[in-house]
Amino acid sequence: MGDRDILTLVGAIVHSLELGKLMMIERGAIFTQDGLILRIVDLNEPPLTTLEEQVQELQKTTTGKVIVQDFGENLIVPGFIDTHCNAPQYVFTGTGMDLPLLQWLEKYTFPCESRFKDEEFARKAYKRSVKAHLANGSTFCSYFATIHSPAAIALAEVCQELGQRAYIGKVSMDRNSPEGYIEETGKGCEDAEQFVRAVLAKSVEGAAFLKSVDEGGESPALMNNKETPLILPAITPRFVPTCTAEMMRELGRIGAKYGVPMQSHLSENKDECAWVASLHPEISGYAKVYNEYGLLNDKTCMAHCVYSDLEERKLMKANGCGVSHCASSNFSLCSGVMDIRVFLNEGLKVSLGTDVAGGYSCSMLDAMRQTLTASIVSSIRRRDANAENKEKEGAEENSL
Ligand code: GUN
Repeated sequence: MGDRDILTLVGAIVHSLELGKLMMIERGAIFTQDGLILRIVDLNEPPLTTLEEQVQELQKTTTGKVIVQDFGENLIVPGFIDTHCNAPQYVFTGTGMDLPLLQWLEKYTFPCESRFKDEEFARKAYKRSVKAHLANGSTFCSYFATIHSPAAIALAEVCQELGQRAYIGKVSMDRNSPEGYIEETGKGCEDAEQFVRAVLAKSVEGAAFLKSVDEGGESPALMNNKETPLILPAITPRFVPTCTAEMMRELGRIGAKYGVPMQSHLSENKDECAWVASLHPEISGYAKVYNEYGLLNDKTCMAHCVYSDLEERKLMKANGCGVSHCASSNFSLCSGVMDIRVFLNEGLKVSLGTDVAGGYSCSMLDAMRQTLTASIVSSIRRRDANAENKEKEGAEENSL
């Protein structure tokens, strides 16, 4: 296909315009050029416009060809967005599901991730991982890599080569981590900033942005516009238990300096929450710890949030922080059931994540199914709790 060619996809188009609002076109055409949508046409809409007429009209606007791919009655949907997955963990997907989070990290995850010190191994594994997500329809993934910068840069290159939009997080961890898979604080912070710079420098837009940051001038918008680089680096403290206050503070500073996305884990598991409380008795709340160090803002996405109470949710909402709901992983690691409806009713931004390999599948369709199951479980719990309360109230009234 040439640059000026217009690729036309024809079929049943389904697209979510906003939460709760679905656009469905039984027979429609999407005209694209150079990867961008030119227009979407309802071919059944009166006055009836035939596909041939549309093609003829568009042909006048380009020196290229109009290429039509007709999928008949099949659905055409936008690419899936996976807001939380661990690229290195793909290598043990679907295994090691016998332990809860903290023991699972120690027994399976950290030993697996340590192997990514070997850049050649990492590149091979990352190719498989990214291909698996793409094959399942995820055109965007927000990845956690490992603490190893060369391997994380290799992941960015793999995504670029394979054409997947991605946030790439070089993981930061400088405490409570095994020997051989832990960073020294100063070096870890330096690596985190150098990683951000290295990934930004890989795109024309990112390099221009870096230049303006360095010159202290007006920086061009890096995110949320047409010029957003395909690949962006993300500040990625693994979670509070593995990051010292010093490291979190420095990561917050780097995030603010470059305005890049941030991601971490929050309130996933009861033992983890208790551990955070014992590590930070001076701060009353898990999310507050991130907030204290400048890691909770409108570019942050926190994964899990199973045990986020009202106060925590209010703080996230006030800061514009998003949530990645990872239902499959929450079931597999017996973490708990996150009640997504509560978050949505309170106006928080919620997205879905596969959380491979806490979750056993790269498929966002699977993530959606598991989300539905989690929501059904939550609604049953709510119904039964209401009934129990009513019964109790009745019993109290009778005893008066
Ligand atoms: N918390 C800290 N690290 C991890 C991880 O790799 N996966 C999950 N699910 N939770 C975590």
